[in-house]
Amino acid sequence: MTLIEHRAATRTDRTFWAPGRVNLIGEHTDFSNGCVLPVAIDLGITITGAKAERIVLESDLRSGAPITLDPDGSVSENPGGWARYVAAVARELAILGRPDVGFAGQLRSTLPSGAGLSSSAALEVAVATALCAVAEFSIDPLELAAACQRAEFAAVGMPCGIMDQAASALGSAGSAIYLDCGSLAHELIPIPDEVALVTIDSGIRHEHEFSGYAERRRQLEEALVVLEGRSPAEVTIDEAQRAAEAANLDALHWRRLRHVVSENARVRSLAQALKSSQGPATDVGTILLDGHISQRDDYEVSLPELDVLVELAYDYGAIGARLTGGGFGGSVLALANKDGALNIATRIAKTYRERYEREATVRICSACDGARELT
Ligand code: GLA
Repeated sequence: MTLIEHRAATRTDRTFWAPGRVNLIGEHTDFSNGCVLPVAIDLGITITGAKAERIVLESDLRSGAPITLDPDGSVSENPGGWARYVAAVARELAILGRPDVGFAGQLRSTLPSGAGLSSSAALEVAVATALCAVAEFSIDPLELAAACQRAEFAAVGMPCGIMDQAASALGSAGSAIYLDCGSLAHELIPIPDEVALVTIDSGIRHEHEFSGYAERRRQLEEALVVLEGRSPAEVTIDEAQRAAEAANLDALHWRRLRHVVSENARVRSLAQALKSSQGPATDVGTILLDGHISQRDDYEVSLPELDVLVELAYDYGAIGARLTGGGFGGSVLALANKDGALNIATRIAKTYRERYEREATVRICSACDGARELT
């Protein structure tokens, strides 16, 4: 049956949406039970269609033809491109007991892929939200996020933490989400009204994104042995350093550990600063800069172009800026006063173009609600 025939056979269309995210701070802390502070943004994926016998989808996403698969994610041939994520999500949900109900429709995206704004998590969460709704399968948002996290690994081998999927599922307009990835306890932290979220996409897509991420994760896990079961979110830098010295930890592994221990502390400090009644204190700029330097020097996931974007953001008057997401390319997030945000963004893009003959795409985003059915 063709997509058109499937569509003709369906009832009234329903539309579901899942957002991408920026992370204010807390990078590479999620997979070691640390804390993160992401924000769901108003760029994302919509999926429109209706209940059907099988899953039949077409999309405007870059790679991959329309797909047809069984409601439990079974496919005759291994799908490529975006279809891998759809199949993996359907499989994970089937394992959780989602009834075998299909969905025919189309996916539309306003999220650039590879820009570090979690387009794959938004895709997974949008598909999962639609599949659960048409099957009347009720699932807790964090359980849905965890299923999507597993799907990401199954689809493309990316050993990610839960942050991106959780942000897409839990987003709330005007707020960041403080999430403890160990206990999954979470709290909304309002973003001051006068602050704009500016994403600056470097245009660089690193081919080693997944392997570099996995290597860093492995190195961190090797380093964590020195903490003898304590989580890096629970120890101070001094305690971590004493443990590292006692265990003769080498310099590279110490840098990885230092990033994660210090980053957890920065998440707590930034959450505190945002909550402070004095508004976004000057601390914010320092915390974000320290975070970027730690990603650059200790965790080593930045690139010279990203460092320059951060530097330009500070030079042109942003409150603060840092590399957001997994790194090895992607985007810088700058926080700026709403009044000056466009001007700062335009100047950054201009200087970047002059220096690298490369386009930086700037987007002024707002914090929005997480995955849901649009009425
Ligand atoms: C990617 C992963 C997340 C998280 C970030 C780094 O976005 O998908 O789980 O680890 O990198 O903070």
